[in-house]
Amino acid sequence: MDRSCGMGLPVLLLVLALSCPAGALENGLARTPPMGWLHWERFLCQVDCDEEPSRCISEQLFMQMADIMVSDGWRDVGYQYLCIDDCWMAPTRDKQGRLQPDPNRFPSGIRKLADYVHSKGLKLGIYADVGNKTCAGFPGSRDYYDLDADTFAGWGVDLLKFDGCNFGTLELLAEGYKNMSHALNKTGRDIVFSCEWPLYERPFRKPNYTEIKQYCNYWRNYADVYDAWGSVKNILDWTSYNQDSIVDAAGPGGWNDPDMLVIGNFGLSWDQQVTQLALWAIMAAPLLMSNDLRQISPQAKALLQNKEVIAINQDPLGKQGYRITKENHFELWERPLSGGAFAIAVLNRQEIGGPQAFVFSTAYLGSGLACNPACSIQQILPTSEDLGLHNWVSPLKVVVNPTGTVLLKTVVTEEKLFDNGKKRFPEFL
Ligand code: GLA
Repeated sequence: MDRSCGMGLPVLLLVLALSCPAGALENGLARTPPMGWLHWERFLCQVDCDEEPSRCISEQLFMQMADIMVSDGWRDVGYQYLCIDDCWMAPTRDKQGRLQPDPNRFPSGIRKLADYVHSKGLKLGIYADVGNKTCAGFPGSRDYYDLDADTFAGWGVDLLKFDGCNFGTLELLAEGYKNMSHALNKTGRDIVFSCEWPLYERPFRKPNYTEIKQYCNYWRNYADVYDAWGSVKNILDWTSYNQDSIVDAAGPGGWNDPDMLVIGNFGLSWDQQVTQLALWAIMAAPLLMSNDLRQISPQAKALLQNKEVIAINQDPLGKQGYRITKENHFELWERPLSGGAFAIAVLNRQEIGGPQAFVFSTAYLGSGLACNPACSIQQILPTSEDLGLHNWVSPLKVVVNPTGTVLLKTVVTEEKLFDNGKKRFPEFL
């Protein structure tokens, strides 16, 4: 790659910052994929608090989630952003043209809610739309980008999910995302910018990720996640099919967003929940749970709070993983990690029968480098297990439940292949 943009050194020094396109939105945020909670998939647009007092979109819901994010250890493992999705607004702007929350459901206002959330050591996310109306029909931000950015900054908001419904033309879509990104930067407040720009653009033309990542901290590419295995499968299939055009776009400051984690809800079996978390870690995805933290099973909680999986997701190298191969009904994925380590996921896509063995050579992994000359392998999901030392050609066997995933981590080791004169790898040496 020509890192000098084709210029001689003296000129380069003078104009480098001005002439080279920025690699990513350098607002200093989202150096690792953001983690938190987002209301949409679980709570949708319930605005009737008389009928559904504990499930409607209200300040009470977010205050309760904030309390639990602290008391139940979510914040301490990294889930930091508590995010409001669509349907928080009043149906019209106020007299000054400012967005305002629904007065019955957010009687204290967003500033107070942000103060509360901040007092708990958490951050607050909010939702708006690039077009004339949000997807659920509330006021959109078109023509109000600066005012809305100022309003959010004034309230103390830390993240904006900016949807793309009712965007008008493709030119307005792109301009809108760029203008809102600038408007947020101009406020001087640290506000993570979450986009759906490529999702709305793709039906008409191929998104330009070099451009998108200069404006967004993460971006949705594909349809909304549902609480269903079919939905998780579609997201994985779309991602592996398009990996050549999206994986390299991801890195510190900008991430592909395969949408919310639906773990802890109704639609996924245990193995499918393991698969979602394992593959979201491989994909360097934002980990935004959409579930009811007030009533979540201990098993789902332990899964979502698994520190080894979170460490893979949050790996500082910031490289997104990809599918290496698909053999019969098995998929093998890997993600390069810092220090020459790799995360490996073996997914069993068969939906009939019982656990099945998959045997593969470690020479497959990391283009042959992950286990060369030897590596230690740790199984992380579905259970934590030390699989010991392996070498470059020793076959590795994992047994995977239907629709489940085994998540592994390899660490290259310089350990001697001989121990007290005894061969450690008799099948090889
Ligand atoms: C779109 C988005 C969802 C959610 C809804 C809200 O469908 O993709 O994530 O924000 O709008 O109306």
